[in-house]
Amino acid sequence: MTSRTIPVAEFDLVIFGGTGDLAMRKLLPGLYRRDAAGQIPAHSRIIALARTEQDTAAFCDQARASLHEHLDQSECDAALMERFLGRLQYLFNDVTNAESWDQLVTVLDQQPEHVRVYYMAVGPSLFGVIARGLAGVGLHEGNARLVVEKPLGHDLASARSLNAEIGAVFSEDRLYRIDHYLGKETVQNLMALRFANALFEPIWNSNCIDHVQITAAESLGVGSRGSYYDRAGAMRDMVQNHLMQLLCLIAMEPPYTFEADAVRDEKLKVLRALKPIQGRDALLKTVRAQYRAGEDSPSYREEAQNPDSTTDSYVAIKAEIENWRWAGVPFYLRTGKKLRARFTEIAIVFKEPTHSVFAKVTATPVVPNVLSIRLQPDEGLQLQIMTKDPGPGGFRMHDTQLDMQFSAGRSDDWRMPDAYERLLMDVVRGNQTLFMRGDEVEAAWGWIDPIIDAWESIGQEPEAYEPGSRGPMTAMEMLARDGRRWREIEK
Ligand code: BG6
Repeated sequence: MTSRTIPVAEFDLVIFGGTGDLAMRKLLPGLYRRDAAGQIPAHSRIIALARTEQDTAAFCDQARASLHEHLDQSECDAALMERFLGRLQYLFNDVTNAESWDQLVTVLDQQPEHVRVYYMAVGPSLFGVIARGLAGVGLHEGNARLVVEKPLGHDLASARSLNAEIGAVFSEDRLYRIDHYLGKETVQNLMALRFANALFEPIWNSNCIDHVQITAAESLGVGSRGSYYDRAGAMRDMVQNHLMQLLCLIAMEPPYTFEADAVRDEKLKVLRALKPIQGRDALLKTVRAQYRAGEDSPSYREEAQNPDSTTDSYVAIKAEIENWRWAGVPFYLRTGKKLRARFTEIAIVFKEPTHSVFAKVTATPVVPNVLSIRLQPDEGLQLQIMTKDPGPGGFRMHDTQLDMQFSAGRSDDWRMPDAYERLLMDVVRGNQTLFMRGDEVEAAWGWIDPIIDAWESIGQEPEAYEPGSRGPMTAMEMLARDGRRWREIEK
């Protein structure tokens, strides 16, 4: 069984960078799955553009091999595969050459009624060039939408100029900035949890919540992405986008409706209320680190092929939100590569009961309630509560987990939809709720930039941490200073 499908309009999806890693690993498998679920209308087309001279048959061979690699074998049905490959077309396109657009115009003009989605699976230096190229041949008009992926800038100034470049051709209501974390089922569930239940909202504030922890730990290193990553680091690669989006969804006020601008307005308010971290404050409220070599694994510097690199592969931050709801509640963020496990979690740690009724009858310490929203692995929710051990003979208590795995009760062939499946179909539908608006991206950079500036002016090397560990010591110390500790990165 796959997820429920709601039909979308006939569309043409044009992928710039159609032979690249993102297209092969995420976009084509996501589209295949939507096709298998019956969501892709009969005449819709996927048009891959790249600078390799090849025909559609050769591209289909490449796509077929890649789909077999990235899908479960149980999903690879021969008839479905041929139907899906039948939707693909390949066009040679050198986006810097004006003449090279004519073929795309001819192909798209065959279906003028189709929704047109242009997906930039290319580096940001080409975003403006492609947007202008599309405008030059009139392909930006009507039903056209532009999808862009991070990195959406390197700092506030570059994000502004990128927004201006693409915004000169596509108005904000036709721009889709992907943060794939927003497409994750559990992240959407976080909104359902907060706003479809009366239970949590009254306690979702500084009266009841002690602090929040957001962890995105990865067990793999930078691998072959070293040349990109070494210019970004964990701060730009993960914090500025994914972690800050999660923070916004936890901290935002309830939007008046679940529609794009209502949600995005509330997220923006959170970003604007973040207390700046500047100058030497960065030494107390942030930690940057880099993994060293392990017994059988190369160091970050070896993987990135930069022996002098000072790029962060781990970052921890104590963020504070200066508003009525969150005053005094720290949001601790951490992310890193080559840690103990792949583990992504948002933990809401509640305050302890104001008075311990059981202090005289039991030695068991009362452990605070924790609501844990697990993104990976094993997506689900856990609520840690104190319960009494059954039986007579004293009053013993312990903390118990109320555990809800989203996969529980599903058939064996059920799988959690990938973020791209949802996001791609949302673009065709014209639903921007799970996409970042330009001002959000800029506000996030506006908070990140001073931290990076502070790191640069302080000039400290990143601390080294062991691969496969829980991260650097100073990150533990940062929480210990506040009388708290990080949650376990579970294997
Ligand atoms: C990407 C980052 O955006 O997210 C990668 O560029 C990171 O460095 C990845 O590995 C993590 O995504 P996920 O979905 O595996 O948590």
